[in-house]
Amino acid sequence: MSSLTLLAGLLLSNGASARADSSLVNVLGTRPRAMDGSQPSSSILPGASTTPYTTSASSPNPPFDAREATIETVHHAIYSGLSTCREVVSAFLARIETYNNHTNAVLTLNPNALDIADSMDRTLAAGNATGSLFCVPILLKDNYDTADMPTTGGAIALKDSQPTEDAPSVAAFRREGAIILGKANLHELALEGISVSSLGGQTINPYDSTRTPGGSSGGTGAAVAASFCVFGTGTDTVNSLRSPASANSLFSMRPTRGLITRTGIIPISTTHDVIGPIARTIKDVAVALTVMCKTGYDAADNATALVPSANRAIDYAGNLPYASLSGLRLGVLNGFFNRTGTSDPEVAPVNEAMDAWMARLTAVGATIVPINETLYNATAIQAAYDVQRFEYRELMDAYLQRPSLGGEQPDTLNELYALKASNVSKGEFLVLPSQYEYVNTALVSSTSNATYQERRFGIQNLTVALQNTFAANNLDAVIYPEQKNLVVKIGSPSQSGRNGILAALTGSPVVTVPIGFSNATADAPIGVPIGVEILGRPFEEQKLLGIGYAMEKLGKVRRAPAWAKEEAEVSEYSAVPVVTPDSGNVPSVYPLGTL
Ligand SMILES: *[C@@H]1O[C@H](CO)[C@@H](O)[C@H](O)[C@H]1NC(C)=O
Ligand SMILES: *[C@@H]1O[C@H](CO)[C@@H](O)[C@H](O)[C@H]1NC(C)=O
Ligand SMILES: *[C@@H]1O[C@H](CO)[C@@H](O)[C@H](O)[C@H]1NC(C)=O
Ligand SMILES: *[C@@H]1O[C@H](CO)[C@@H](O)[C@H](O)[C@H]1NC(C)=O
Ligand SMILES: *[C@@H]1O[C@H](CO)[C@@H](O)[C@H](O)[C@H]1NC(C)=O
Ligand SMILES: *[C@@H]1O[C@H](CO)[C@@H](O)[C@H](O)[C@H]1NC(C)=O
Ligand SMILES: *[C@@H]1O[C@H](CO)[C@@H](O)[C@H](O)[C@H]1NC(C)=O
Ligand SMILES: *[C@@H]1O[C@H](CO)[C@@H](O)[C@H](O)[C@H]1NC(C)=O
Ligand SMILES: *[C@@H]1O[C@H](CO)[C@@H](O)[C@H](O)[C@H]1NC(C)=O
Ligand SMILES: *[C@@H]1O[C@H](CO)[C@@H](O)[C@H](O)[C@H]1NC(C)=O
Repeated sequence: MSSLTLLAGLLLSNGASARADSSLVNVLGTRPRAMDGSQPSSSILPGASTTPYTTSASSPNPPFDAREATIETVHHAIYSGLSTCREVVSAFLARIETYNNHTNAVLTLNPNALDIADSMDRTLAAGNATGSLFCVPILLKDNYDTADMPTTGGAIALKDSQPTEDAPSVAAFRREGAIILGKANLHELALEGISVSSLGGQTINPYDSTRTPGGSSGGTGAAVAASFCVFGTGTDTVNSLRSPASANSLFSMRPTRGLITRTGIIPISTTHDVIGPIARTIKDVAVALTVMCKTGYDAADNATALVPSANRAIDYAGNLPYASLSGLRLGVLNGFFNRTGTSDPEVAPVNEAMDAWMARLTAVGATIVPINETLYNATAIQAAYDVQRFEYRELMDAYLQRPSLGGEQPDTLNELYALKASNVSKGEFLVLPSQYEYVNTALVSSTSNATYQERRFGIQNLTVALQNTFAANNLDAVIYPEQKNLVVKIGSPSQSGRNGILAALTGSPVVTVPIGFSNATADAPIGVPIGVEILGRPFEEQKLLGIGYAMEKLGKVRRAPAWAKEEAEVSEYSAVPVVTPDSGNVPSVYPLGTL
């Protein structure tokens, strides 16, 4: 068995990464566990068995270890016969069932997950397994449309909203064999970075139970950090793929606007919105991105028409091993640091981690280029050019009125926010008090407002200025901390100090990479994670992923949360367990149904 295991490992780590083509399965057979002599080997050959494989209660193999699992370790386990797909899925379900109360990250589990796993085991036994994500369990942020589960945005008002079609990105995952385990909590409707919602409650940072997990894709971030899935998805309107990666010691990719269609995603802004993956390794980010990009051109999202043909159908994982940091020119946006708050224990660890990494990058042959232009002030950029208020209502009304949205839900954003608190009900939505002005303005604004076009011109200017910075300094990328301070405490007014706005407005790609932890405290036994953004020119995802990969190998920074290092006991499930989020833990400073 060990030689087969080794062979599978070699094949899977070779060339086209973890692609599971049927020839590989045929070479390996599907049940090398029989090679121990307990079963005649002929019964395990592809197509030789007429009965579908079922798990044996007296299985001699250890259960699949889901902790820090990757696409490659899942594929190694199933193609070498160490685990069945059902065992892989059960291992993740057990972690969610056992540990979700530590973090409150999962909203819903997919009741079909085990049936899908069983059907994949039959495919595997037939030697027919294909797809780069075959049997890879993933969680989706609950603003991705799924035909088999409601898509709620975390709002009670949308709890029965049932799409009749998968978002194209979700369909792409399923075509490559991914198993959608369920949906993750998010900051309600993805509007802020605290990751609290009326339906799902407050998600808790797995590294520090007094802190938020960043957001808005904070349920995904916490779930991936705790190994509740192999990877997850997020959306990013200003910071939302990067803040949860930074706060949970994870990697993420905010792709260039247009690279992946946004159809079937609860929207906020055509200018700002993108979707992408969050994972524990850059390689898994790259494989997931490759799959999401297979959605290609989509007439329903005209940003997808702007993708150059050379940037279609790239295998983002293919060239990672050749990446190097030597010779790179990296601009550092000094305006995106807080150098005045250096005595503040919330700020100092971020500056320390960034300074240490700049020294480290220099030591391996990269050139750090200080960029001091006053333009690079995230607060000022957001105040001057953010266009969410103008675009939100029209897009949301169109989403709510699509024929492919079944179930019961309000038809317009105004109707949703009319479901206010009364004495008989708590109200069906949650808006942070610091965002009342934003939402109230969005409810009466549109792309016809005079100031909208002016801001669009401002965004064009900002885009040109950023490209000038790249060109004038001959840069490969610019870097800065995702957040100037540690991720904020639960109950804070907002997720302050984040720098995501530059990429959000210019549509630039960004890879987020873990760069360290604050010092350990009683609340944070291994410290609070800190992440860096690496921003590139449009469609330079491949270069950015290479930088991230080389930094991952150099730093080996990522660590699992202390409690998530424990192994969960895996049951022999007869059905997918039901997970109930703790919606009762919403801090009282965020009253439901108030606007
Ligand atoms: C989670 O639930 C288990 C079982 O009910 C309990 O023992 C544990 O203390 C809970 N943990 C937290 C953090 O609530
Ligand atoms: C395996 O795939 C082949 C080709 O697609 C198909 O003809 C065959 O029926 C499949 N076998 C099973 C058992 O699904
Ligand atoms: C982009 O698509 C939207 C919706 O499909 C459409 O309303 C809009 O006019 C298009 N914009 C351009 C510039 O083509
Ligand atoms: C910098 O940190 C100080 C001290 O915590 C804080 O008062 C200030 O608001 C921060 N500035 C920015 C731009 O985040
Ligand atoms: C963390 O601890 C180290 C070693 O004790 C110390 O040098 C460093 O200044 C501390 N960092 C912060 C931000 O307190
Ligand atoms: C840019 O800022 C850095 C750090 O604030 C400083 O060390 C450097 O001298 C500045 N460079 C220029 C050209 O002003
Ligand atoms: C950044 O912009 C804000 C808002 O315009 C301003 O208050 C702040 O002083 C600026 N920061 C710096 C360092 O110039
Ligand atoms: C409803 O709540 C408001 C505010 O708390 C209170 O003033 C009012 O008396 C309540 N009305 C009823 C009928 O309980
Ligand atoms: C857009 O116009 C409406 C109506 O004049 C106004 O109430 C609203 O504040 C404007 N929105 C913005 C963001 O300026
Ligand atoms: C954009 O730049 C042009 C030329 O530099 C300038 O005239 C214009 O005022 C700028 N517009 C905005 C909205 O910043």
